[in-house]
Amino acid sequence: MEVVKTLVSLRRWRATTHRSVGLVPTMGFLHEGHLALVRKARAENDLVAVSIFVNPRQFGPDEDLARYPRDTEHDLALLRAESVDLVFIPTVDEMYPPGFSTSVDVGSLGERLEGLSRPGHFKGVATVVARLLNLTRPQRAYFGQKDAQQVIVVRRMVKDLALTVQIDAVPTVREPDGLALSSRNIFLSIEERQAASVLSRALFRAQESFEWGERDAQRIRQIVRDMLDLELLVRTDYVSVADAVTLDELEQIDRPALLSLAAWVGQTRLIDNLPLEA
Ligand code: PAF
Repeated sequence: MEVVKTLVSLRRWRATTHRSVGLVPTMGFLHEGHLALVRKARAENDLVAVSIFVNPRQFGPDEDLARYPRDTEHDLALLRAESVDLVFIPTVDEMYPPGFSTSVDVGSLGERLEGLSRPGHFKGVATVVARLLNLTRPQRAYFGQKDAQQVIVVRRMVKDLALTVQIDAVPTVREPDGLALSSRNIFLSIEERQAASVLSRALFRAQESFEWGERDAQRIRQIVRDMLDLELLVRTDYVSVADAVTLDELEQIDRPALLSLAAWVGQTRLIDNLPLEA
């Protein structure tokens, strides 16, 4: 496994091969959710490249950039065990050299849901992903369905900028009690960790209600809110039932929809989602 830190060495690596490349962009502190992306990339491409970069541009001024968990040695050991071919670990200066001033803005898609609570987040994501795609020129790039809005935003950007990469969304990996794997779960105390399982339980309960025929989006949102409200350690940020492509909030669920939520569990903000499809 080759580990490179500069744009020049990444470009050099890419220039030496005509084989297919699968890219898995990450912010490190890898868990089974990331490894599911890596394994899919391994199965579908000749070569697998993984980037590890905690992207400052997707964190707001009051967010957890400084304390975002990092463990590069452990990450590299995990990636080696998955037979990854290349790991790209740039510094912030390497990714954003002095004078860097371009950003990729996907418009209103990036301003709702997570974008409302985290202004500028998706501009940061789209900018770094565009840069990583340009540098690596992969045939396919892999993202977790847990960050459903990110997948929608990246797909929009790829379409709008006529990039020739296929974006693959990989199902969310969950703990046995349903909690979606996230690097931020490490911040939860034992009590918060227990309380956090209500997020997925609420989503699954609402999804079940949809499967039994409920099509009123407000009632579905209310099922989730009511369950979250029962947990004292959980504070709801938003619960959304939106069109799965445009992210427009729905009144009636008459097309493929995304049920998503964000909630604070103690000081940790977590997100999760499930599809609502007849
Ligand atoms: O999902 C993430 O870890 C990040 O948002 C990504 C896609 C690596 C961009 O920084």
